[in-house]
Formats: sequence, structure tokens, C-alpha cells
Amino acid sequence: MKKYILFIIVLFSSGFLAIGQNSEILSSVKNVETKVDSVLALMTLEEKVGQLVQYNGSWDLTGPASNLDAKQKEENLKNGLVGSMLNVLSVEATTEAQKLVMENSRLKIPLLFGYDVIHGYTTIFPVPLAETASWDMEAAEESARIAALESAAHGVNWTFSPMIDVSRDARWGRIMEGSGEDPYLTSMVAVAKIKGYQGKDLSHPHTIAATAKHFAGYGLAEAGRDYNTVHIGENELHNTVLPPFKAAAEAGVATFMNSFNDIDGTPATGHKVLQRDILKGDWDWNGFIVSDWASISEMIDHGFARDKKHAAEIAIKAGSDMDMEGGAYETSLVQLVEESKVDEALIDDAVKRVLRVKFKMGLFEDPYRYSNAETLKNISFEDHRKASRDIAKKSIVLLKNENGLLPISSSVKNIAVIGPLANDKDSPIGNWRGQGEANSAVSVVEGIRKAVGTDVNVNYAKGADLGMGERSFLMPLKINETDTSGFAEAVEVAKNSEVVVMVLGEDAFQTGEGRSQVNIGLAGVQQELLEEIYKVNKNIILVLINGRPMEISWAAENLPAITVAWQLGTESGNAIADVLFGKYNPSGKLPVSFPRAVGQEPLYYNQKNTGRPYSDQHVTFSGYTDSPKDALYPFGFGLSYTTFEYGEPQLSAKEMNENETLEVRLSVTNTGNVAGKEIVQLYIRDLVASTTRPVKELKAFEIIELAPGETKNVQFKVDETMLQFYTANRKWESEAGEFEILTGSNSRDLKKSIFSLNN
Ligand code: NOJ
Repeated sequence: MKKYILFIIVLFSSGFLAIGQNSEILSSVKNVETKVDSVLALMTLEEKVGQLVQYNGSWDLTGPASNLDAKQKEENLKNGLVGSMLNVLSVEATTEAQKLVMENSRLKIPLLFGYDVIHGYTTIFPVPLAETASWDMEAAEESARIAALESAAHGVNWTFSPMIDVSRDARWGRIMEGSGEDPYLTSMVAVAKIKGYQGKDLSHPHTIAATAKHFAGYGLAEAGRDYNTVHIGENELHNTVLPPFKAAAEAGVATFMNSFNDIDGTPATGHKVLQRDILKGDWDWNGFIVSDWASISEMIDHGFARDKKHAAEIAIKAGSDMDMEGGAYETSLVQLVEESKVDEALIDDAVKRVLRVKFKMGLFEDPYRYSNAETLKNISFEDHRKASRDIAKKSIVLLKNENGLLPISSSVKNIAVIGPLANDKDSPIGNWRGQGEANSAVSVVEGIRKAVGTDVNVNYAKGADLGMGERSFLMPLKINETDTSGFAEAVEVAKNSEVVVMVLGEDAFQTGEGRSQVNIGLAGVQQELLEEIYKVNKNIILVLINGRPMEISWAAENLPAITVAWQLGTESGNAIADVLFGKYNPSGKLPVSFPRAVGQEPLYYNQKNTGRPYSDQHVTFSGYTDSPKDALYPFGFGLSYTTFEYGEPQLSAKEMNENETLEVRLSVTNTGNVAGKEIVQLYIRDLVASTTRPVKELKAFEIIELAPGETKNVQFKVDETMLQFYTANRKWESEAGEFEILTGSNSRDLKKSIFSLNN
């Protein structure tokens, strides 16, 4: 307290009201909270509200623009009425915007610069769903570290990532942006990403602040339609949606973003229980929550607020701290306080949260620390590309491989590479591509040509277009539904080749925000093309370029080989070639179920059993009359060029007490001829509980590498915390009783053992 008073006196007696100019004084006051309080004490109500306002810059548009004109925005920046900006890119642009504040405003509180750095800034990595398929947390951290470095070198010091919405509906376009259907795997990725972005010290000029988004429930939009209503109860909220966010809060993520959807009648942006009670209360998290783009004023469209002013009142009371380009806070909060409709203490709390992050980022010491042209000069983009290729190859999932078609033998001298995505240098960059240049990825044709050199004939034919015309973030994509004029050439090429690599799937702009689809099969004329080729050559390796699980039942039944290559980023074609020719033995596992038919969606392995799980005698059980109910390829599934044999799980005891640990041991043997990596998975099922529990839940996994013929013993520790869930007591706790331990190579093929937890 003494320090705080002293600090204020120094500040005033130095005859200034410009905080940024007194960075030395500020850095001499060590404690962040003291500094925050000191600054807050100097602020007028208008300036406080200003810190809660975020403007879009004119560099990029990732939502519908507000109607404030650029001149007005500039004036407000000069007057210290803006706390942060998004989509301001480059050292020059961020310097210029920061200068407006630092050289004109009264208090000179530096701006934050946010941007959607989702899977890379310049060097593009696999889309998050793909990267999660590597199950490699070091990889997830490394790509975030590199993305942070490249962003910071361009003046961007805050990313709106990671997106940690558990999502189980392949129709939802944003499924590509998250980590799939499992809360545990998503939580692991959340922590890895936050570590990668934020490093150990948020003030280091190579780190950036991260955002856990979208809080909460956004990934469970009804019918997979983006922005749609979410109908989940308290049980599902706590057991499925919140765990990754809790993990993010515990990992020290600097900010949260709330979400567009409503949950059970309350828009997330106006959700007090979520934001104030759970996140800021129970979890005691002290960062700030930014709204999603205009989600505060969108509460008017939700029918939850009468007008912007009402929306601002609801949002600030519910705990939304910063208004992203929505114009609700800047137009209403001052008045709401003056009319005593909003307590100024709520504004103070929000401002303190924002200032805290700014202090931790070292912006008060040097507002330009991220706008340093030198950082860029010292970046080795070559090393970043190498990392991108390495992570990309680990993200590829092999779904089927009959007759040893893969890896492609060196005796094959004529390879056809066919399909609209075969030489596409843009779709592998994916959506939410940061500043990844259009058409800058290595295509599959290029990757294959480079891998085989002049020894092998690589015969390329496009066959057909997929996406047509101009493609961009905000505009709908036009799909080619009719033009098959390229088929004949492709058929000829296939006839004259030993092996056909068919590269099909999704355009980059089929997934991402607002890209929900009712069909998730091969769009346009792709299926037709595939079947035409199949008529003349059955040696087809399907390489899927995709951002969501796809309906590929025909391919699964008819083709000998299928790989899921997702949208792998800058080095896509090279990574795919590494796998096709066996330079890298595929090791990825699906983070999301691939359905037999879109009608199964939402589909996920960790479902409830229901009261009528199965009967082969009659129809009155929970299933479908025209399809099996399980996935075509389940969560956790992925093959290798070798085979693995799993031993029975051995438990160190058949029962355990609450403070004990149980060991689960199992052997895994490489029974094939090449070395390979395997992701050994452990699931648990709580057999009887006070609320119904999923049939299995991932609780641990380990990546092992085995030489041919080698056996390794894998050990997992099971403790009481792994048995906890949100119980009927509305508490996160375990309940005594029997549990199944399930171990194996995917969520379907598992070996079982039973133990009990004592009272
Ligand atoms: C809307 C998206 O939902 C959010 O994820 C993104 O960060 C913002 N727009 C800013 O682009």
C-alpha cells in the first residue's frame, strides 16, 4: 500500500499525466497489481471505458465492419479511448497506430494488437484439427512458438488462439480450427499451445498473449450450423465443454474470448454464471475476456437486449471485459454508470484486467517492443519451414492400406497424380491462414516430383475444378457441380500408370467460420471423377485434403489405400510425399470420428450407453435401421506401415483407495518389418455413477517407437483425479465403485480390465 501511495505521489509530482513516458518509474514498482491500481487511479471514466474498446484496423476484415469511419477511429485513438485493435498488421502499421496513442493521449496507455494467428503467421502449419492428429504436444507447442515469433516480428502481440471448443459435428465448418471431439486431448493441446505462444515470460518480445476461445459451448451448435443455439445441460457443460477452458485458465492464458451462441437461453456474452461465477470466481482467473466480433450488440438479434445500451449493460454485468468492434461499450458504458445502472466497480475490474495483461506484456516499459523491424531480419524462415514439414508429416493419418500399396514401391515407374487438389497450392494453406500467402503451399504434384526425381514418370491431370472463381474469407465458395470436361484426360493418364494418387477433398474455403455444410462427402464432381478413374485403374491411393471428417464410405469400401492429409500448410506436398514413399511411417490418429453417413452427426466415441444400447433381434434399440451406428473410422484410429500387437492390460491391484495410484502395464510389439511409432491409448469407463457416464473416455496416451520385432512395456498411472467428473452433487469429484480400464490403439479396438475405487 505504501509503495502504491508513493508511486501516485511520484507520478503526480512529476507534473505529468502520461504513463507511457514514465516507464522507468513504472518498472521500478515491481508488483503488477500495484502498478495496475496506480494507473487506474489516474483514469477518468471515459478513459476507463476506452480500455474496454477494441477496433478493427483496415488491414483485414474478419467480420462485418462497424459503421465508425476511419477518421473517427483515429480521433478516438488519439484521445485514449481505445484499448486495443485487431487486424493491424506489420511493424509500420502497429507503430503508426501505437504512435497515435503514445503521442497524443493523456495517459498514453499502450494498445494491444490482436489477430487470428490460428495455425501460423507467415509459415503455415497444419490446421489445428490436423495438428491434433499428431497427438504430439511438443509439435503443438513448437508451431505455436514459431507462430508467436513471426507474429511478434510483425507487431502483432496477441493471438485469438487456441480455439478449444470440443466439437463433434463434422457439418460445423469450424471443426477444423479446434482439436476435435475429446475434452482430454483438447485440454492437452490447449496447454501446449498456450505454452508455445506465451513462453515463460509474456514480456519477452518473441512471445504473444494467447486467447482461450470461444467461451463457451460454441462447438456444439445445433445441427452443426455456425452461430446456432446450443442446447446443453449443466452436466454436459461441466464434463465436456469446460475442461479445456479450465486447463487453459490454469496454464495462465492471458485472455479468453466469449462466444456467439446462446446456451440454454442465455447468450454466452451475457452469461454471468460462465464468466463471472465460474471463470473469474471458482477458477480465480485474472486475465480479461474479449467479446467475439460484435457479440455484445448481437444480443439484440438474439432477442436478449433491446438496444446497444441494454446489451452493454448485460455484457459488463455478466463479465465481458472488452467489446470487439461492436460499438456497444463505447457508446453506452459511461452513460450507464452515470445513470447508476452499472456500478463503476465493474468497469474498474474490467480495466484492471486489461491493464494487468498490458503490464505483464511489458508494454508500459516499451510500447513498441513488438514493433521491432530487427526481429524479422533475424528469423530463419527456412527453419520454420522444416518444422512445418516435420509437424505436417506427423499429422497424416493412414486409414486403409491393402496389398501393401503404400508406401509406393521404388519399382513403380509411372505414377498418375489426379484430382482438383493434386496441384492446388492454395487449399493446403487452409482457412484462418494468417498472413500465409495465397498459392504458397507445396502441392502434392510438386512434392511427389521432388521426391522421385527423374527416375519416375509423374503424370498429372486435374480432372476437374473444385472451387471456382474468386475465393476469400468472407465470401461463399462456388463449387463446380457440372464441368467434367477434364475427365477424359485424367482417365487416359490413369490407364497408363501403375498407381494412381487421387487427391480429393475440400477447398480451403469449405471449412472455417460460417462454412457449415449439410453434405460432408466429396463435393462437386469429385466422386464421379473417382469412380471413372476406378473403372480403368484400381490401384488408387486416395489422399484427402480436408478440414473436417468426411463421408467417404464408397472409397472405404472400394479403394485399397486412403490417407487423411488434411490441410497441412506450407510444406503440405513434401510431407505427403514423405509418407507416400515411406520416408516417414505414418503415425497420426484421428482426433475426430469419421462417419459412415452425415446423418450420424454429431458423432463421437464418448457417447452415453442409453437404456437400449444394442439388439440384433429387433429394431427397438438405439441405432439406425439403414446403417451401423458406430463410426466408419473411430476416434483414435490410424494405421502404420507396420503392425502392432497389444498385450492384455495388467493392473497392479484390483482396487484402490482415494489417495493411491494404480499402475496399468501392457506390452506392445512391432510385428511388422519396419520401425514405427504407435500412440498407445488408455480409456476409462465409470460403470455406475450418480449421473450417466460415457461408454469410455480418453484419460492418457503415450507415443512409443518400436523397431521391427521389438516389444515395449508401457505403463500408465491411474489416480483418483482421473476418475473425477461433475457429479449429481454439482461438484467435480470421484465416486466409489467399479471402473473399466481399456487400452489399445484406437477408441474401438480395446482390451479391458476392471478395478474398483474404495469408499
Ligand atoms: C469471429 C471469430 O468467431 C473469432 O474466433 C475471431 O477471433 C474473431 N472473429 C476476430 O477475427
